[in-house]
Amino acid sequence: MVTAMGGFIFIRSLRDANVVPLVEITVRRMEFRGRDCSGIAWISSEGLKVVKDSCPISSLFHKYNLGGISATVALGHTRYSTHGKADPRNAHPHLDCKGFVAVVGDGALRNYEELQLELVERGHKLVSKSDFELVSHMVEEFIDRGLSYVKAFTEAVRRTRGLISILALFRDGTAVAYTSHQPIYVGLSEDFITISSTMSGLYGNSKSFTKIDGGEVVIVASDGSVSFLDLQGRTALKSFSAYSLEEYLVATDGYPHHMLREIYEVPYSILRTASAIQAKYLELASKIILRSNRVFVVANGTSLHAGMVFSYYLSELANIVPVVVSASEFLLYYLDNIGVGDSVIAVSQSGETSEVVRSAYEARLRGATVIGATNNINSRLTRFSNLYLPIAAGPELAVPATKTFASTLILMYVLARSVSSMASSTSSKVLDEVWNEVEKVHVELSSNLGRVDNEAREASKVIVNCSSGYVVSRGITYPLALEGALKIKESAYVHAEGVEGGELRHGPISILDKNMFVVFIEPLERAAAEDTLKMVEEVQSYESPVVLISHSSKVVRGLETVINVPMIGRYFTPISIAISLQLLAYWIARYRGVNVDQPRRLAKVVKVE
Ligand code: G6P
Repeated sequence: MVTAMGGFIFIRSLRDANVVPLVEITVRRMEFRGRDCSGIAWISSEGLKVVKDSCPISSLFHKYNLGGISATVALGHTRYSTHGKADPRNAHPHLDCKGFVAVVGDGALRNYEELQLELVERGHKLVSKSDFELVSHMVEEFIDRGLSYVKAFTEAVRRTRGLISILALFRDGTAVAYTSHQPIYVGLSEDFITISSTMSGLYGNSKSFTKIDGGEVVIVASDGSVSFLDLQGRTALKSFSAYSLEEYLVATDGYPHHMLREIYEVPYSILRTASAIQAKYLELASKIILRSNRVFVVANGTSLHAGMVFSYYLSELANIVPVVVSASEFLLYYLDNIGVGDSVIAVSQSGETSEVVRSAYEARLRGATVIGATNNINSRLTRFSNLYLPIAAGPELAVPATKTFASTLILMYVLARSVSSMASSTSSKVLDEVWNEVEKVHVELSSNLGRVDNEAREASKVIVNCSSGYVVSRGITYPLALEGALKIKESAYVHAEGVEGGELRHGPISILDKNMFVVFIEPLERAAAEDTLKMVEEVQSYESPVVLISHSSKVVRGLETVINVPMIGRYFTPISIAISLQLLAYWIARYRGVNVDQPRRLAKVVKVE
């Protein structure tokens, strides 16, 4: 199976105008969702037409001379491979065997293998490895059984599992879209009806809009009427609001920066990760880890901090304590002793960080088995690894890593769970269990994100004028202290140091004064939490501005600045804490006038050592 993140748009003209150029412009505006493949479908006098390839939409138009096409109904798609290579066959739209329907989408079908097997057995010719192609063939089957287009579509999507946003264009011009979790937007004007996977997709074509949420369906019938259903076929009522978006916000989908947009994507990116991991590769990676003499986790920056959290996951769940080390240190001090029987888990969202890539290459050369964990499947890391696991968060454009950190934690958690289940020979369905857990995490994060953002914004005002500070925690959230300090440094250019709570009293405390802030992360371990709350009181007496990131409702005397994060269990609360730190760093940067998307001297990919 190959999976992808994508952006899609459907436009129907209400005045017989050609919508193809508008589809192209709009898809280009969605390229923050990826651009390694693209495709369009339209209704011509000869029926449903599709052109697609492994290139961005502008190149597609150029290559296939699409400028000359005229259609009053069309859809477009842009794609980013989260798993599997960018092959033209895997580009969307996908047709069924009979050309009834063209399907585009975003997400990953968790039950791909089961559905694929059934369809092949029943004689369908699958031309790609894309999970979304399966839906087009399922729709075809239901049409063959006599169901209406809309009913065939809803029956097909009812059989899918995972994170899915999907849009189908039928050969009579009917368009139907469904989403499992992410909103899909529907826009109206006197000229057009639009369905878009992004808010910015309605720019330039809609005057009012509404959206469908998880479990809902929108239908634009061939006569141009619009209706909404749930998956049980019950009518859903929607009210439309006025649509307006400033032009400068189109490229960032309505957010002032990619960084903020990407933080708001975390509740979805973790679902994307959980649905993209495939049992076969997960089991292989687990076997490698279990059979290793020694396990090394090698990474830099934010990925290193994710690797540190993984060491808690793996040691607590599977009783294996890995060596977690910066890739630079690994190359200098560990490489000489690496050999057959060792495994190296190389973590890099870009898959291109020089030291990580070299660590993977050199370790493999010496006989170690390398498992790459990356968000970029076309990277050098995937080439130098024996096996790779996709982070599958979708493209991350802001230099400070946010959603990829959260998604890496999910991947690391799944891996630790899988190793644990293999070690104890329990035949538990790890991926199903984790999916259920991550769906709950998704709900908690989504419902708290706006409030956490407001609290982080208020908290940032308390510390914005400090020249330096500490981020303090203990236990499984200690790596979060390091990550929070890194985020504040790289996003806001404010010096910050991550300090282990117990160490605060062994030196760092001596320089605290009103110019140095302290952000305390309440530890998840009870004794450490109690001690930390005492420390909060103590530090306040040195006049340091203090922020507490709390997952409990414990009140600290005299403390006003608290960011309350949802408690979602020992292994997922680090994600809610990470979001609060990312938002805190974001707002400090905003108030200090820093362009968070492009911090000076930093690049998204560090290829120079
Ligand atoms: C650079 C960036 C960091 C990032 C690190 C590792 O140093 O500034 O934000 O965490 O690279 O990146 P990777 O792509 O390997 O995860």
